[in-house]
Amino acid sequence: MTTRAVVRGVGHYLPDRVVENAEFEATIDTSDAWIRSRSGIERRHFAAEGQTTSEMATRAARAALDDAGMGPDDIDAIILATSTADLTFPSAATMVQANLGMTHGFAFDIQAVCAGFVFALANANALILSGQAERVLIIGAETFSRLMDWTDRSTCVLFGDGAGALVLEKATGTGANTDRGILSTDLHSDGRHRAALYVDGGVSTGKTGHLRMEGKEVFRHAVEKLADTAHRALARAGLSNEDVDWMVPHQANLRIIRSTAQKMGLPLEKVILTVQDHGNTSAASIPLALSVGKQRGQIREGHLLATEAIGGGLAWGSVILRW
Ligand code: UT7
Repeated sequence: MTTRAVVRGVGHYLPDRVVENAEFEATIDTSDAWIRSRSGIERRHFAAEGQTTSEMATRAARAALDDAGMGPDDIDAIILATSTADLTFPSAATMVQANLGMTHGFAFDIQAVCAGFVFALANANALILSGQAERVLIIGAETFSRLMDWTDRSTCVLFGDGAGALVLEKATGTGANTDRGILSTDLHSDGRHRAALYVDGGVSTGKTGHLRMEGKEVFRHAVEKLADTAHRALARAGLSNEDVDWMVPHQANLRIIRSTAQKMGLPLEKVILTVQDHGNTSAASIPLALSVGKQRGQIREGHLLATEAIGGGLAWGSVILRW
């Protein structure tokens, strides 16, 4: 008998405002054709003025709790993956906790940028396996629109806002990789690459700052590292590419997703794709893809999912779970 962290519910929230690629043509030297062909992005959602990460996170959390048939009283811990918390502190997770009317348990943020949700899943799994929590609400939520330099065409067309959430619950498994739940995790970071993707603001600068990215450099690392981390995580679970029902990648760029799928020998039909509609929502992209994938009827109970992501840090990793 083995303890497993099993998915009980999933949900998401996207802000109402949808911005098509063509809208950028009025303000910067770009085109719908360039954005589509270089990134696969067609549109993205932007938060309304004053709409915060914690508010979107709360909406996604409520949707996931409803899907699980649970309420805030059932949850022991909240982990929120975000790089765009409302304030420097307190954590956005504690704001969600208060919004949900939860006065017990504990809540904290995880900051691993676009890899944040994979890091959050691994940490929630560790809390459950070590007996520190039985039910964990894990959220990825971002308002990256607040970090954009609207004059920088190489970044401002790529990102979007949104939130997704999962409820994980402690369950008993057989220990075999046919169990439902998280089967393995593989996390990495390498701080030498900080200049490839960062925000030029923060506490040490006195301003929020803007996102800066060496797109080509990040692209190169992504193509090299994502299939590798997914392979390691699969091997750790005694599984291989052929066992994967769905690759659920971080949705940054369709070309990166294609190349990773190709390296893993997976046809694009086995990849959950939301990048065209959401753009890059950083830590929110994987839970959004999980929720939309389930809603579309693609992801079903018993399916083997390989999630993988890379982002600022650089930080990257993969989590293998059976839905
Ligand atoms: O989520 C965190 C991880 N982030 C990522 O995974 C992003 C990784 N990188 C990428 O997705 C791609 O590198 C980009 C989509 C950012 C860029 O694609 P690229 O094929 O690497 O293009 P590039 O940066 O080499 O730019 C090619 C050309 C340049 O013009 P020149 O120098 O060839 O004349 C750019 O100035 O495209 C130009 N360009 C644009 N043109 C029209 C850059 N942005 C735009 C734009 N519209 N928005």
